[in-house]
Amino acid sequence: MRIDIITVVPELLDSPFAHSIMKRARAKGLLEVVVHNLRDHTPYRQAQVDDYQFGGGAGMVMMPEPLAILLDKLKEERQYDEVIFMTPDGKLFDQKTANSLSMRGNIMIICGHYKGIDERIRQLYVTMEISIGDYVLSGGELAAAVVVDAVGRLIPGVLNDETSALFDSFQDGLLAPPVYTRPADFRGMKVPEVLLSGNPKLVDEWRHEQSVLRTKERRPGLMGEE
Ligand code: ADE
Repeated sequence: MRIDIITVVPELLDSPFAHSIMKRARAKGLLEVVVHNLRDHTPYRQAQVDDYQFGGGAGMVMMPEPLAILLDKLKEERQYDEVIFMTPDGKLFDQKTANSLSMRGNIMIICGHYKGIDERIRQLYVTMEISIGDYVLSGGELAAAVVVDAVGRLIPGVLNDETSALFDSFQDGLLAPPVYTRPADFRGMKVPEVLLSGNPKLVDEWRHEQSVLRTKERRPGLMGEE
């Protein structure tokens, strides 16, 4: 899978894909992340990419021309399954969207900065708008990193134990159960007996029960209860 990211602050995306699972996914050739600095593609002097908004008001807007030039160039080179714009007024990102994006071949992500991007770019190029939560970040880069991480780890072959994503929180509409490691007695707090029983059926049942309990307690909305 290839993900192209368009940004005016490429430095913000140096680290998120350089470690751990994302690093491995790239090393294995399963995920390619290509970051484009929008300033390298602007036709304007002094690498200008933003301007005042028509109608007045505080905050700059990303100009359409540099974005269109870069988007046209990339779209000539390959076909994109989705052109995503990261924005707080987009659709709330969730595991279902991550799952479906992980099955695509090429994805483009546009990171907004300042007050956002000119509306005409959204109309002309963007096929999907994603928000990672009801709060406003300084730009779309950190949000894009969240999406790439959540999607990248779902690409088949990326996780060591391929089944492990199946047991993540949300994968079955439930939160994950609690987990424990050694020691079995930590400062007097004991690991639930069933986990030491060696009986996989009992362990599975206990985990499911705990998932249901946790989901009811913390996120009843996920189970259709508010
Ligand atoms: N850009 C700024 N805030 C954002 C958010 N919450 N989600 C996605 N992109 C953003």
